[in-house]
Amino acid sequence: MASLTRRAAIAALLFALRAASQSCSNVPTASYPAPVVADGYNAQLIITGLSSPRGMIFDQKGALLVVEKGAGVTHITLQDNGGTCLSAGTTTRLIDDKGLNHGIELSADGKALYASTSTEVFSYAYDDVAISVSNQRTLIGNMSTSGHVTRTLLLSRKQPGLLLVSQGSSRNIDPKATQVSSGISQIRAFNISDLPDDKVYSYASDGKMLGWGLRNSVGVAEEPMTGGIFSVENSADQVSRMGTDIHEEDPGEEMNFHGFLNGSTESWGGNYGYPDCLALWGTGVPELGSMKVGSQFSYEESGSPVSDEDCARSYVAPRLTFEAHTAPLDIKFNKEGTLAYVSFHGSWNRDDPAGYKLSVIAFANGQPTEPTDSTTAAVPVLSNQDTGVCPGNCFRPAGLAFDSQDRLFMTSDSTGEIYVLQRTTPPGGDGGSGVPGGGSSPSGGAGTGGIGSSNENAATTGAYVPRNEMWLLVSLTLTLSLVGGAFLAIG
Ligand SMILES: *[C@@H]1O[C@H](CO)[C@@H](O)[C@H](O)[C@H]1NC(C)=O
Ligand SMILES: *[C@@H]1O[C@H](CO)[C@@H](O)[C@H](O)[C@H]1NC(C)=O
Ligand SMILES: *[C@@H]1O[C@H](CO)[C@@H](O)[C@H](O)[C@H]1NC(C)=O
Repeated sequence: MASLTRRAAIAALLFALRAASQSCSNVPTASYPAPVVADGYNAQLIITGLSSPRGMIFDQKGALLVVEKGAGVTHITLQDNGGTCLSAGTTTRLIDDKGLNHGIELSADGKALYASTSTEVFSYAYDDVAISVSNQRTLIGNMSTSGHVTRTLLLSRKQPGLLLVSQGSSRNIDPKATQVSSGISQIRAFNISDLPDDKVYSYASDGKMLGWGLRNSVGVAEEPMTGGIFSVENSADQVSRMGTDIHEEDPGEEMNFHGFLNGSTESWGGNYGYPDCLALWGTGVPELGSMKVGSQFSYEESGSPVSDEDCARSYVAPRLTFEAHTAPLDIKFNKEGTLAYVSFHGSWNRDDPAGYKLSVIAFANGQPTEPTDSTTAAVPVLSNQDTGVCPGNCFRPAGLAFDSQDRLFMTSDSTGEIYVLQRTTPPGGDGGSGVPGGGSSPSGGAGTGGIGSSNENAATTGAYVPRNEMWLLVSLTLTLSLVGGAFLAIG
């Protein structure tokens, strides 16, 4: 028993030491106030100087493939000194195409790369040794050129060959979204295995429709345990209800559930409300009635006037709702399916800027653990110190990718940067849920304090280590010397 405790204490100490004691030289420093990092995480800015980096994915050699919007796809090798101490090695432009703007995917064997413009989805044969692509072909075409132009790609790992493509609306309130044949504001799945060479799918008429009435669902992910498909939606701007301008707090952004790709028809092909109905975030609206956060409501600008009752009856409500205008752009699950990270790009249609952070949502058994009317499901992990100075002096989260060591990488398109994050809590240890406690803003004094003899060290290395991790270290050392002193002396 005592020996177990000792071993656990030693393991925890080694883990903490490894996480905390990295001396990381020549890392870049942000030009804006250092980000706030939640307890239980380390974060490090590692790459700068990119041009609007958006979606990204790791290849099988551990290189990052990053879509630089309006430029193409860039291949970046990483020099890895462990933990969050990484830096860019060699940077190579893999694909030159000004039309590529966000979407990127890689086949499970790493040999086929996929990328999207607003109108088309391409495939390429990818050689990760030569760092080259060949045999470009168009798989899907006939998508819209206006308005929301990202076409997020998701290749199912549960149903190989199924490529999901999300197409947003062509304007804020787009009446075309009420016609299923328009392909507007939908997520569709295309079977791209054995597609004949001369065949190009037409977005609106081919594929299987997973969901519609989705204004602009930029983030799409497959929950790794059950294979459930979730998306995060950017909802409408400038909305009023019953003569009252409610746009500051409404509508909420949405997380929607789209069922499974295994042939089950549960939750398949639903209409999620847009443009007729939107989801409630702020409850200070006229004639609230019995509605609560996440209820679908009617509003003035909607194409076809419907009642709140129609909204509730006819459309699928979100699984979770997020603060208005925070603009979720990506969602990625950890491999256990217990955490979903969501990048909130940040608002423009709000007096007091909101979003501008990376947050995490707890999942269990394939669904979020929080109820549908929760306002605290998305817990900040990496935030700007003062969103009052955003977007000018802030990072703006866009794409997310996990590497093979479960480190999470995040692009910030406005600043041309990539961050890396790593959880510092030992696996199975106390507080190892990955969701920072409290369900509110992070309490750690991150961005200023650092581990080591001086704060200058933290400032010059740009390592954003939560200050209370030092206390973890101190208390672990004390525990170790009390419990394990004899053990160490013998060893
Ligand atoms: C493109 O999609 C539209 C519907 O948005 C459809 O009417 C048209 O036939 C499609 N074109 C092709 C070439 O498939
Ligand atoms: C995709 O098409 C291939 C070839 O027709 C077929 O074998 C496979 O089962 C299909 N996959 C799915 C998920 O429908
Ligand atoms: C599809 O997967 C879900 C989640 O694992 C499961 O509940 C369902 O029974 C499956 N359906 C089919 C047809 O395999």
